[in-house]
Amino acid sequence: SDPRLQGISEAIRVVPHFPKQGIMFQDITTLLLDHKAFKDTVDIFVDRYRGMNISVVAGVEARGFVFGPAIALAIGAKFVPLRKPRKLPGKVISEAYELEYGTDCLEIHVGAVQPGERAIVIDDLVATGGTLSAAIRLLERVGAEVIECACVIGVREVKGQCRLNGKPLYILVEPRQIDNCC
Ligand code: PRP
Ligand code: MG
Repeated sequence: SDPRLQGISEAIRVVPHFPKQGIMFQDITTLLLDHKAFKDTVDIFVDRYRGMNISVVAGVEARGFVFGPAIALAIGAKFVPLRKPRKLPGKVISEAYELEYGTDCLEIHVGAVQPGERAIVIDDLVATGGTLSAAIRLLERVGAEVIECACVIGVREVKGQCRLNGKPLYILVEPRQIDNCC
């Protein structure tokens, strides 16, 4: 596999019991402090998606905003923010998704994407897949074709390709369980 992935994995800090007991938080802020690891992360996505005629990189608030714009600029696509409720000032459409307690929602500006555009969705991490599923539904409602979802961190399926709502899911590294913070 790609020799850059180990450095990326090691640059992600694992913080036990954050934000609550039992959660092994995967902290990408330390990846962003490591120029090589950050650049390698963006480069791997750029190498994968350049030449695939992608015109939309949709990033999920908040941590998808860190990686998405760099990828969009490098592949010659627009960046479309998928935001938490009541943040976008224009006309929006919304998609709810399940949280452990209750629901949350993502919104997209109507008119940001034209029917038939080829899109990818970027986020830092996939856990239940609820967030990315809502992102896919939003893009499909505005007529985009979702080519793939891409995350820095996620659990790969034991066999076969990772998929989400029938769409391919591309993951760079698995979450680590160990505590490497000081
Ligand atoms: C985290 C993470 C993903 C999502 C993954 O975001 O950044 O967006 O959870 O979880 P899921 O696959 O179970 O849906 P969070 O909603 O905590 O907000 P943030 O990115 O704004 O910090
Ligand atoms: Mg998030």
